[in-house]
Amino acid sequence: MNIQKAINLEDMRTLARRRLPRIAFDFIDGGADDERGMQRNRDAFSRHCLLPRYLRDVSKRIQTVSLFGRSYASPIGISPTGLAGLWRPDADLMQAAAARDANVPFLLSSASNAALEDVMKVAPEHVWFQMYCTTNEQINADLVQRAIACQVKVLVISVDVPVNSNRERNKRNGFARPFRMTPAIVLEALGHPAWVLRYLRTGGVPMMQNWKPYAGQNAAATDVADLYGTLTPAPMVSWEHIKRIRAAWPGPMLIKGLLHPEDAFEAARLGVNGLVVSNHGGRQLDAAPASLEMLPMIAAAVGDRMELILDSGVRRGSDVVIARCLGARACIFGRPSLFGVAAGGQPGVARVLQIMHNEIDMVLAQMGCADFNDLSADWLRSPPVHRLHPTPIQALHA
Ligand code: FNR
Repeated sequence: MNIQKAINLEDMRTLARRRLPRIAFDFIDGGADDERGMQRNRDAFSRHCLLPRYLRDVSKRIQTVSLFGRSYASPIGISPTGLAGLWRPDADLMQAAAARDANVPFLLSSASNAALEDVMKVAPEHVWFQMYCTTNEQINADLVQRAIACQVKVLVISVDVPVNSNRERNKRNGFARPFRMTPAIVLEALGHPAWVLRYLRTGGVPMMQNWKPYAGQNAAATDVADLYGTLTPAPMVSWEHIKRIRAAWPGPMLIKGLLHPEDAFEAARLGVNGLVVSNHGGRQLDAAPASLEMLPMIAAAVGDRMELILDSGVRRGSDVVIARCLGARACIFGRPSLFGVAAGGQPGVARVLQIMHNEIDMVLAQMGCADFNDLSADWLRSPPVHRLHPTPIQALHA
């Protein structure tokens, strides 16, 4: 199947599955432990219904959204994902270019293969930079300074990886960090010759360019990945790190991965401007709630003071609309973009973004809502929201 024939995001997943060695597909597709968190992410959307209104003029639909002072063509964006160069060389640059052309944000992971500075040249208006705090304070400060120097507009700090998680598909497939080809992996990969050829032609394991300056100019890709493995995850990271970064970073700053309304409230108190409400796509704490489940409580706690972006399990235009009704300004997604880039390079990512744009447009029309920004909880038929008990939202505001 040609990528243009993918009629939904699941089709793109199927295409990527055919084109990637199993170890690669499973690395992207998998989650932690029993992968219940992944399932919970999808189930959370199906619990909500959208209640349509008719006899309203919907011949023109608007889905542009404004985020941090900039207008984007759709309420969607690409979540940050590390090591994307393993699925296709230059995957970071391709995703950035597709996001630029579709006028949506691309969150570049600090664990990318392409260097932040190079990705900024491709899409200076669309790249947001996501970083994890490392065990090394100087490097944390330097990453922030590099983002300032190349004029990144939005900084995102991910906080939901205090330690590596239990990804059993990776263990079974022999995926180790840094990635190394073993005979068993080579044998299976031969069933996907296009991937093998690209991998070999570009020199094997791709360099994590952002970290090369810290490893020395002569460091090999595996040395740099080893260094990265000593710097992250950083289990000692605390609110103190957030305060330091807030003081150093002059622009809009988001935290990605908070799920508790009290944490959201604390972030707002420290001057953080937005949250990516996320359970890391079910890849970290398998027993964590779906991010969509927590969104209404987080919106009640900080929705008037912060931009909320929902991530984890978003696969349909209707998911984006539901998230908007529950308090998110926009949604981002990770695996679908990687499947797009693996299956078809930049056009594959463009196709994923186009499918989502078209689905949102159609859902708005079906609902009788001409402007995405007019959506609210009034458009939903939902089960009662489960509350944390005691829910300290009122107390927080007091
Ligand atoms: C991720 N994710 C992630 N998040 C982050 O903040 N920094 C990172 O470097 C990565 N790396 C990464 C690699 C891969 C292969 C995947 C699939 C995911 C998590 C990502 O940003 C996002 O939270 C999830 O992908 C969202 O879930 P969906 O959309 O994939 O269901």
